[in-house]
Amino acid sequence: MTQRKLRLGAFIMATGHHIAAWRHPGSQIDSGINIDHYIEVAKTAERGLFDQVFVADSPGIRFAGEDESFSRQGRVSHFEPVTLWAALSAVTQHIGFVATASTTYEDPFMLARKFASLDHLSKGRAAWNVVTTSAENVHGNFGLNAHPEPALRYERAHEFVDVVKGLWDSFDDDAFVRDAASGIYFDTDKLHTLNHVGKFFKVKGPLNIERSPQGQPVIVQAGSSEAGKELAAATAEAIFTAWTSLAEAQAFYSDVKGRLAKYGRRPEELLVLPGISPVIGRTLEEAQAKWAELQRLIHPCVGLSTLAPFWPGENLQAWELDAPPPFYPEPPKGTNSRAHVVIELARRERFTVRQLYEYLAGARGHWVVVGTPQTIADQMQEWFERGAADGFNVMPPVLPQSLNEFVDLVVPELQRRGLFRTAYEGKTLRENLGLARPPSRYAKLAFGNAQEAPSAPVRSAGNLISEAAS
Ligand SMILES: Cc1cc2nc3c(=O)[nH]c(=O)nc-3n(C[C@H](O)[C@H](O)[C@H](O)COP(=O)(O)O)c2cc1C
Repeated sequence: MTQRKLRLGAFIMATGHHIAAWRHPGSQIDSGINIDHYIEVAKTAERGLFDQVFVADSPGIRFAGEDESFSRQGRVSHFEPVTLWAALSAVTQHIGFVATASTTYEDPFMLARKFASLDHLSKGRAAWNVVTTSAENVHGNFGLNAHPEPALRYERAHEFVDVVKGLWDSFDDDAFVRDAASGIYFDTDKLHTLNHVGKFFKVKGPLNIERSPQGQPVIVQAGSSEAGKELAAATAEAIFTAWTSLAEAQAFYSDVKGRLAKYGRRPEELLVLPGISPVIGRTLEEAQAKWAELQRLIHPCVGLSTLAPFWPGENLQAWELDAPPPFYPEPPKGTNSRAHVVIELARRERFTVRQLYEYLAGARGHWVVVGTPQTIADQMQEWFERGAADGFNVMPPVLPQSLNEFVDLVVPELQRRGLFRTAYEGKTLRENLGLARPPSRYAKLAFGNAQEAPSAPVRSAGNLISEAAS
């Protein structure tokens, strides 16, 4: 039997995940809008045989603060993910591209079209990170008076994903015959019009692009609330998550895997990928010195601003740095599942305000591991083998420097242990991740699975493009 292998994604935050990374000499200071930087990073990830690169996104500036920390934030200007990955697909061969797009603020037809295009452009390496948008302050960019409530956002997300998947199946895989001799370009019997009418959307279809190399781009999800886990269980093939202890990660892993059966899915159809932000040294002392150097670069007002999502409405800049933050009996109103984890951690560890923001500065509450290639590989192996992870989202603290270190030092260690590939197995992202290519919903229908039938698949008239007739 072949040994189960770790999946590795590189979670790319322009200059790096550490909040002060842009001030570090190992980072590319203008990386948010520097295509050469992203080319370098994607090629490094590919050299390290990573499955995918991923960028997070929000349709607007997240930290629209009025305090002095605003001008010190290094992440306000960056590329839109799908266009970025489209450019990078032309200069890489193997690496998968995970782009974040919001079900709260985007339009399903346009989104389906963009991601189908990306899958074609990259020859089967596209994935969509389905988010309902965590930023509370971008609704004004879309004519809304408020950020919709989480329950409504997730309800819309279910319908949104269903519409997008339906549109991706507009053409059967073999619809395009392109037969110059007969003059038939495609078979209209193999074109399906969605005719979706639901609570949030009315979308006719079909999509004006054929079924893509992966059948459908890979679906990723990144919410950990009850509603988030349910959306993942119903629709996702990978879930990104943030845990700092083995026990929490194990509980989450078995929880989400346990939800799949009710959707007729098997546990291996959803990959659980927690984040890990590795600070790597050839010795432990070297790694700790690197970590301390990064922490010294944090301006206190920027550190305080990282706590805003966890204590909404508080005047954080007035807080005493070396005292504990206020702990309330209940999680503050308006906070999400991540905030609860962070506040609980701060309470448990008896963190002061400064200690908490220094802790969060590394990777916003994801798991930060300071160590040698061997100790970092030990911890990844433990999570992988003890039911906490199918792989990891590697979150380099400084880019490009820390990704180079991971590829040069940690990847060989994982390979030596037989935990990670030594060559890409497949051509598409699905093949590398070990995920099946989904059959079209209409192909399923042909085999008599009436439950998969869309409301009214109808054949579009007059779409037979015949050179003879024109
Ligand atoms: C690794 C990771 C990446 C995420 N990326 C994004 C992102 O790009 N945009 C976004 O709006 N939310 C992002 N999120 C947040 C989640 O999608 C979700 O909004 C958040 O966890 C709150 O929802 P929940 O209460 O269901 O957990 C990310 C979360 C994780 C763990």
